[in-house]
Amino acid sequence: MELSIVVLAAGQGSRMKSPLPKVLHTIGGRPMLDHVLKTARALEPKKIIVVHGFEGEQVRKHFLHFDLDWVFQEKQLGTGDAVATALPLIPLNHRVLILYGDVPIIAIDTLKRLLRATPQNAVGLLTVNAADPTGLGRIIRDLNGDIIRIVEEKDANEAEKQIHEVNTGIFAVPSGLLAKWLPALENNNAQGEYYLTDIIRFAVKDQVQIISTVPSVPEEVLGVNDKAQQVALERFYQKRQAQRLMSEGVWIADPYRFDLRGDLEVGEDVKLDINIVLEGRNKVGRNTEIGPNCYIKNCEIADDVKILANCHLENATIASGCVVGPFARLRPGTILAQKVGIGNFVEIKNTKISRDSKVNHLSYLGDAKVGERVNVGAGTITCNYDGAHKHPTIIEDDVHIGSDTQLVAPVVVKKGATIGAGSTLTKDAEAGVLTVTHALNQRPIKGWKRPIKNKTDLNEEDASCVESQRV
Ligand code: UD1
Ligand code: CA
Repeated sequence: MELSIVVLAAGQGSRMKSPLPKVLHTIGGRPMLDHVLKTARALEPKKIIVVHGFEGEQVRKHFLHFDLDWVFQEKQLGTGDAVATALPLIPLNHRVLILYGDVPIIAIDTLKRLLRATPQNAVGLLTVNAADPTGLGRIIRDLNGDIIRIVEEKDANEAEKQIHEVNTGIFAVPSGLLAKWLPALENNNAQGEYYLTDIIRFAVKDQVQIISTVPSVPEEVLGVNDKAQQVALERFYQKRQAQRLMSEGVWIADPYRFDLRGDLEVGEDVKLDINIVLEGRNKVGRNTEIGPNCYIKNCEIADDVKILANCHLENATIASGCVVGPFARLRPGTILAQKVGIGNFVEIKNTKISRDSKVNHLSYLGDAKVGERVNVGAGTITCNYDGAHKHPTIIEDDVHIGSDTQLVAPVVVKKGATIGAGSTLTKDAEAGVLTVTHALNQRPIKGWKRPIKNKTDLNEEDASCVESQRV
């Protein structure tokens, strides 16, 4: 039998207290629905149908790259009604797996086990033993241990409420049987809803076999209804990712202070200190160490690199043997060749730095090309922006740039040149010689007086503001 998957996602999620539809809230940096759809796709179904309601257009926009069918459930009349909305799109000889947009980390293996354990013409459901079953549907079994009913918390009597085995909501049911049973659902229950769970009664009546399995770990089936549940699930998800990486040989200082929001490809013996956030797609090579408190997004970091504490790196490529930080910011388009050193309070943007060059203190390089064995002195900046356009700076091999130099782009510092400290280069600097601008022109200015505050026409706050602007 072919498989169709129905994902219920019509809930407004009002307890999230957010204008964002619930299923777009994230776990591990990805919308919850994205997790579910990836899992669904891994089962290679013939069809995936998402039942949407609240802000459906906003949800759809995020998933244009998926081959999906969308159906709109106008009013949330219950889980049974939601599945019935999707049913017209499903051929009558499929089996239907029902998943939830707000149960994001359900594992592929668990679902495969459920599908394998359930004969094609039977009903399969995933149950779990909940330490605290409050709010969930209880599984009622007869004396033989066979499932005969599911009773919702609000409809349960005291004895039924004592049951800890609960319904996860995840079912596998032949579409032909859904077509027979769903129109027969009634809403004469405590919530006035059409309960999907009532199909169990019909299965018993029609003598259809009911099979149950449990998830590999109970946290997999946790749903998200509010921010506290989202955060709790996030921590579980992160811990699981950390464990996987540690099993691949990564040293993680504290799995409880580790956040991977995306994909990470790692080499052997990578060391990750505390409070590292990795976003998007990152690659970290063998024997590379990342210090505490770093934010790293879409970066390719090669072998034997040291990223020291408190760095912010985005869309940067860092070759082997580089040392970056502490407190460095590498912005998009930064390319560092082998053994480049980037020190503290250095910002680099759209700049390629060739091997063995150093930019060690308090510098900004934007739209530049830096050759090999270059030393960029403290406080050097490229003036790359004229207010309208960006201009390039080229620094050739073996250049030494003195501290506090301004490179007014477009400008070229030719091979082997030395630039005196405090220079403002507005023209190209010749190869192999020392270039200075006004740095040698030191002289006392007689008669100069420091400005003093004029307290009569400003209140004190304004005055101190003016003062700090002058400084
Ligand atoms: C449901 C189950 C309950 C189970 C619990 C697990 C029923 C009747 N009850 O209860 O046995 O223990 O899930 O979490 O199925 N939805 C729609 N359209 C609707 C109603 C719901 O799309 O008309 C979606 C919601 O967005 C949500 C999911 O279905 O993602 C579950 O609905 P909800 O009303 O939260 O069911 P529960 O009361 O949690
Ligand atoms: Ca729920």
